[in-house]
Amino acid sequence: MTDYMILNTDLPKGVINRNIYGHFAEHLGRCIYEGLWVGEDSEIPNTDGIRNDVLAALKQLDIPILRWPGGCFADEYHWKDGIGPKETRKRMVNTHWGGVVENNHFGTHEFFRLCELLECEPYICGNIGSGTVQEMSEWVEYMTFDGESPMAGWRRDNGQEQPWRLKYFGVGNENWGCGGNMRPEYYADLYRRYQTYSRNYGDNKLYKIAGGANVDDYNWTEVLMREAGRFMDGLSLHSYTIPGSWEEKRYALGFDAEEWFETMQKSLHMNELITRHSAIMDKYDPEQRVGLIIDEWGTWFLSEPGTNPGFLYQQNTLRDALVAGIHLNIFQNHSRRVHMANLAQMVNVLQALILTEGDKLLLTPTFHVFQMYKVHMDNELLEVAFESPQYTQGEQSITQLSVSASRDGAGKVYVSVCNLSHKDEASLRIDIRGMSPSQVTGQILTHTELGAHNTFQAPDTVAPSAYHGAELKDGMLECCLPPASVVVLTLE
Ligand code: AHR
Repeated sequence: MTDYMILNTDLPKGVINRNIYGHFAEHLGRCIYEGLWVGEDSEIPNTDGIRNDVLAALKQLDIPILRWPGGCFADEYHWKDGIGPKETRKRMVNTHWGGVVENNHFGTHEFFRLCELLECEPYICGNIGSGTVQEMSEWVEYMTFDGESPMAGWRRDNGQEQPWRLKYFGVGNENWGCGGNMRPEYYADLYRRYQTYSRNYGDNKLYKIAGGANVDDYNWTEVLMREAGRFMDGLSLHSYTIPGSWEEKRYALGFDAEEWFETMQKSLHMNELITRHSAIMDKYDPEQRVGLIIDEWGTWFLSEPGTNPGFLYQQNTLRDALVAGIHLNIFQNHSRRVHMANLAQMVNVLQALILTEGDKLLLTPTFHVFQMYKVHMDNELLEVAFESPQYTQGEQSITQLSVSASRDGAGKVYVSVCNLSHKDEASLRIDIRGMSPSQVTGQILTHTELGAHNTFQAPDTVAPSAYHGAELKDGMLECCLPPASVVVLTLE
């Protein structure tokens, strides 16, 4: 059966914030240490301690923003431990993640250097769980104050004359859980207090992000918006895609069709979460000033056998590619409210873009989806009207297709389509309104094996290729998508 879809290229729905393509790097497992940071003396080629191969790969994605230092780690992190000569930096225990020694060699200066090399915005998450108001206030002063002050002087002594530009600042992380086990009323008051002393110095204006809800905790959003909405620019939301359950997770590899279906179903749940959290935000903020910041999302599986369970190292298959494509389409389609999203995490942790082993590196299927989708950044979101066919497994049905479209400044139109079904292809007729394209090109990511993934021995098993399944006929675009595929089309 062929499904019909209308693409209105002349009905723009607002700009897709590039920060939807954001990332997250935590002091967790081998994300920062080994994955990004190897130190200046490493045999692995590096720039000021940051590994060159990973940098070169990440540069291909035009990463807009990077969140650091956590995560749960953020509410245990004391920034003063991570500045000054490396040999005197405090060696602490990373109690939350594997109980390993954290030598603090990667700190504020190193993070800003990483962002500079990636040409991305820094997004720092401050410590409200175990840190003081003074500590948070002084961190902002250290980073952004240009005048004469104890913190600005200290920064200069440590080699950074000019203040850095810092816009995005989080006031705590998961404060309902690892960030202090607080009630929303209590956190809302603390948020109001801590953010007061996180000052705007000179023309550096902070975009302050309050720690938001866990998945479908709508009461958290309600209380935060009611009690502290006017003091924030963004409110976060964390939701991971976890086949099985939180208590009984599954492995990244070795899944069956049932589990594939469940993963797709759980990915689509993000649409409901955003819709319902947004509805609460609309009540208190009808102008949609406050952004919904989905600063942790992605798959969460059991750690690979034989690895430290506290390191959250997992493989990444075609299934993860679909999860990424679905989420990015959903974020884009909600781009009026969703101002940022950060995949968890950048390297070697959870749904990573890159996996490393010693001096080797591989790009995951998720990396490739980000590379294919990056054409959407900063574009006008377009309206797509259609009723998706159903994808049925046993007694259950979900939508088979996930779609999003945008138009860039030069008038090119991009359509990203995911076929969620593991068994059925999808035939589409897209009625293009407001434009008469003469050419369609595309890229596809798919594989005949649902569990296909890249390894250090075979790093290109899952990689994008040119897509030849689309054709323009009398103003209609006809295309056929194989099962389990992610396609991005360009119309011009
Ligand atoms: O991304 C891993 C962890 O998941 C983060 O540290 C925490 O915020 C969330 O629970």
